[in-house]
Amino acid sequence: MSHCESMKGRTLVISGATRGIGKAILYRFAEAGADIAFTYNSNGDEAQKIADDVKVRYGIKAVPYKLNILEPESYRDLFKQIDEDFERVDYFISNAIISGRAVVGGFGPFMRLKPRGLNNIYTATVTAFVIGAQEAAKRMERVGGGSIISLSSTGNIVYTPNYAGHGTNKAAVETMVKYAAAELGEKGIRVNAVSGGPIDTDALKAFPNYEEVKAEVIERSPLNRMGLPEDLAGICWFLCTDECSWLTGQTIVVDGGTSFQ
Ligand SMILES: NC(=O)c1ccc[n+]([C@@H]2O[C@H](COP(=O)([O-])OP(=O)(O)OC[C@H]3O[C@@H](n4cnc5c(N)ncnc54)[C@H](OP(=O)(O)O)[C@@H]3O)[C@@H](O)[C@H]2O)c1
Repeated sequence: MSHCESMKGRTLVISGATRGIGKAILYRFAEAGADIAFTYNSNGDEAQKIADDVKVRYGIKAVPYKLNILEPESYRDLFKQIDEDFERVDYFISNAIISGRAVVGGFGPFMRLKPRGLNNIYTATVTAFVIGAQEAAKRMERVGGGSIISLSSTGNIVYTPNYAGHGTNKAAVETMVKYAAAELGEKGIRVNAVSGGPIDTDALKAFPNYEEVKAEVIERSPLNRMGLPEDLAGICWFLCTDECSWLTGQTIVVDGGTSFQ
């Protein structure tokens, strides 16, 4: 299968593709020829720059939309807009994550966890995946199938300081992925999670102990390096190819071997 032509005429919908892992995924699919509907939250200018760049570079269609995953029901209107701009939906990747003020009480040591922060992380991680995947699945059904992915992280299998709120919700979304896979398989829709070890992104740089985490990852990984956004992007692309047509309901762990050390 040619690397460049394989996704021509297909459409990817992805949340949070202005930076980090989402941006790397967007470029990977654009390189493969897919058209792209992607969301931003605060970085509208950057989103437009990315759309313009991939259009010129890969000759595909790319449209940015504003979305707040703390209001998951707004996915319904988002998909209506996407229906106007794109002919079909083939792949959906739930990637966006909240940070900053929205995670206060959710990102921190166990004894400081509070309902609001925890609930926000649930809404943004699990509920947003559910509503986005429901809307995507309705469109995929019309074209005979598709592939849905939720980003996850190894913070639910390896102790990560301050990560209790995110880690528990990543465990929850991985289980939600399995339920979705069990019920959407008959429509030809596959649903999987890609769970990354610590990846060098702005999100990780915001950790108060970033340098420490980075040094520890390099030390623990048999591959002796930190993960990069591209390490997860390639797996997301692969999961959407026909090479994976019997793969569903799984979490693929991409962590440089760190979780066994
Ligand atoms: N970094 C890691 O070490 C790591 C490891 C494993 C898995 N992951 C997972 O990979 C995914 C992406 O992580 P990342 O590190 O690339 O994140 P990131 O660099 O912080 O990027 C977050 C993205 O989400 C968007 N966003 C922020 N708040 C939002 C909101 N309220 N509503 C909608 N979108 C919002 C941002 O858009 P704007 O820029 O427009 O605000 C941005 O595009 C997450 O699911 C994360 O859990 C990360």
